[in-house]
This record gives sequence, structure tokens and C-alpha cells, in this order.
Amino acid sequence: MTEERAQMPSPDPPSSKGQEAQRTFNKITDYYDLMNRLMTLGRHAVWCRDVAARTRVPSGGRMLDVATGTGVIALAALKKYPNSTIHAVDFSDRMLTEAASKPGASAIRWQHADANDLPFGDEFFDAVTHGYLLRNVDDVERVLAEQYRVLKRGGRVVILETCPPQGLLRYPVTLGVRVLIPLLGQVVARDRESYAYLQKSTLGFMTPEEVVAILRRVGFASIAWKKKFFGTHMIISAEKQ
Ligand SMILES: C[S@@+](CC[C@H](N)C(=O)[O-])C[C@H]1O[C@@H](n2cnc3c(N)ncnc32)[C@H](O)[C@@H]1O
Repeated sequence: MTEERAQMPSPDPPSSKGQEAQRTFNKITDYYDLMNRLMTLGRHAVWCRDVAARTRVPSGGRMLDVATGTGVIALAALKKYPNSTIHAVDFSDRMLTEAASKPGASAIRWQHADANDLPFGDEFFDAVTHGYLLRNVDDVERVLAEQYRVLKRGGRVVILETCPPQGLLRYPVTLGVRVLIPLLGQVVARDRESYAYLQKSTLGFMTPEEVVAILRRVGFASIAWKKKFFGTHMIISAEKQ
């Protein structure tokens, strides 16, 4: 199996939602890690380690972190599976530059790529991960189908994503997210607008059940999920059979 797709067609430019995400993430790179720590009260790093652990990459295997951002999941995976090859892609060059400057990052293969058209051959990876990707794409099914394509049979996808809070916590948590995220963005990063976008995409995304239904349609099985952080985050894992 070759790493690059032979005769790759030139990828489509990012879609409208993709363009907004690309602009936003290129803009907020400098404050990304700090803001993430503040917005999740330090839990983001723990969830990324959890995501890495759930991939169960075999020794000598290959893992891909899509929409790697500043590389937190990719670096956690490298620590957990030092004998594996970790690839990490993103369509924000500023995020990739930041990720590649972190300690230990030189062992990871960083690459510019759009999640809609991954530049890898079929069945190349033992595991695929991503954090906070799906709410930024126009076509969730296409992006998950692309991940299914590059996974080997028996390979796992592990997803970290936000979800709209439900039940009793729905109203207080929604209000907290609406007020706190743009406020933190204004005070810490001096950029209320970008964090208003993040707040909107967080509350507007799918429930775990909706993502699971798409994973099933794409062909994934053995699907498991759990919610985190007052029902605002989810970790979902699934297997290609
Ligand atoms: C919120 S950040 C998440 C970064 C990292 N995964 C984490 O958990 O901290 C979302 C990242 O997804 C990237 N992204 C969004 N849509 C993408 C796409 N279609 N292809 C590649 N990267 C994308 C953005 O550039 C950004 O770096």
C-alpha cells in the first residue's frame, strides 16, 4: 500500500464552512492552547490522552490525526505508541507550524491536507483520530467515509467532539457557553468574533446518536460513546470491519 494516492486529483478548495473554519483557525493559533485549557478547565489534554489510548495502535502501526490543530492528540499518541508512525494533517498552515514547533514534534509527519480529500491510499492506517473536526465541515458523512477509506479492516476511528447539552443541564450550560466563550475570547485573545463562531458551532452540532447513525451508514461497527463535561463533549469510537 502506498502512502500517497497515485495521480491525486487536485483537491477542491475548502467549502464555505471550510473557508470560515480555515480563516478562524489561522487567526486564533497563538491563543489556541491557552483558550482550550481555560474553556475546558484543563480537561482537553486529558481527553486527548483518552482518545489516543482508545485507538489501540499496534506496535509498528500507523495512526492519522486529522484536523490536528496544535497537535495535542498526535503528541499524546506518540507518547503512548512510540514505536508507531504518527501522521497529522490540517488545512491551517499556522496551526501546523505551531504543532511542529512543540517538543518531540519532529517525530510526527505533519502535512497540509483537507479532511474531505485525504492524500493517502486506501487501508493505509491502523487508526484515525480527530478532535473538534466534524462541527467545522459541511458534509460529515463524506469526511467520515474518507476516514473509513484510509483505515485498514479492524482499524479504529476515535472522535472527540462537542455536542449540545441535553436534559436538566441544557439551559444553564447553554447559557454558560453562550456567555463565557465569547467573553473569554474577548478578554484573553481579544477576539470576540472568532470565539462567537466557536460557541455557535459547539451548540449547533449533532448529538452522539446522530453521529453514530452516520458512522453506521458509512460502514463502521462496534460503536461506543460517552459524554463528558456537563454533556457538552463526547468521545466516540468505532471499528472498520
Ligand atoms: C478546534 S481545532 C482542533 C484541533 C485539535 N484537533 C484539538 O483537539 O485541539 C479544529 C482544527 O480543525 C481544522 N480543520 C477544520 N476543518 C478542516 C478540514 N476540512 N480539513 C483539515 N483541517 C480542518 C482547523 O484548521 C483546526 O486546526
